Amino acid sequence: GDEFDNPDGPDGSGNAETPSEGGKILVAYFSAQRHTQAVAECIVELTGADIYCIEAAEPYAANPYDDSDRIRNEAYNDLRPGVANLLDAERIAQYDTIFIGSPCWWHQPAMVVCTFLEAYDLKDKVIIPFFTYGATTYLNESMQKIYKVTPDSKHIPETLPEDLDPDDITTPGRPDDAGIDMPGNAGGTEAWLRRIGMIE
Ligand SMILES: Cc1cc2nc3c(=O)[nH]c(=O)nc-3n(C[C@H](O)[C@H](O)[C@H](O)COP(=O)(O)O)c2cc1C
Repeated sequence: GDEFDNPDGPDGSGNAETPSEGGKILVAYFSAQRHTQAVAECIVELTGADIYCIEAAEPYAANPYDDSDRIRNEAYNDLRPGVANLLDAERIAQYDTIFIGSPCWWHQPAMVVCTFLEAYDLKDKVIIPFFTYGATTYLNESMQKIYKVTPDSKHIPETLPEDLDPDDITTPGRPDDAGIDMPGNAGGTEAWLRRIGMIE
């Protein structure tokens, strides 16, 4: 096997949630407090996509605010915490479109999401990021990171607002966060999927 083989089984099914019918779209997400999970489940319900929950090899505290220092360190230093349940590369290869969901954690995606994305060849796949957050003030920084770790993929949206200061992920409230279309929560998911053309 190659370095991406899932040690728990040939198709990773031991850890993934039950896949639904179809198999061309994957919703991969990390969620600590279930907000992102709720959006992920909504996407699955409306598109028939398969679902996969990214688990951190070293789990976060039940209340992730108790792990705030760890999370800030991972984000600010661009670390790649391990994923407990990486899927087999052949399984990822079967999808054309991958929704990737995360909370905004210290102005960035949960870094395990980057670990996951960088583990695969995602060339020419369509990557559709979605975030949940306390406020949209860091959304562009978080989105930029997803695009950066999937340089050979296509994305929805195709491009992002210009990052006014790409080297600074710690200063809030730049106007470049405006205008990124997000579902925000489960209730906003159906209209968002329609706006981006993923459902009729
Ligand atoms: C440690 C930590 C850091 C956070 N940092 C941000 C942030 O930088 N910007 C933001 O809008 N929300 C931030 N939040 C709020 C989460 O993004 C928000 O609650 C999200 O919906 C949680 O998703 P989940 O329930 O899927 O884990 C943070 C939450 C935690 C626990």
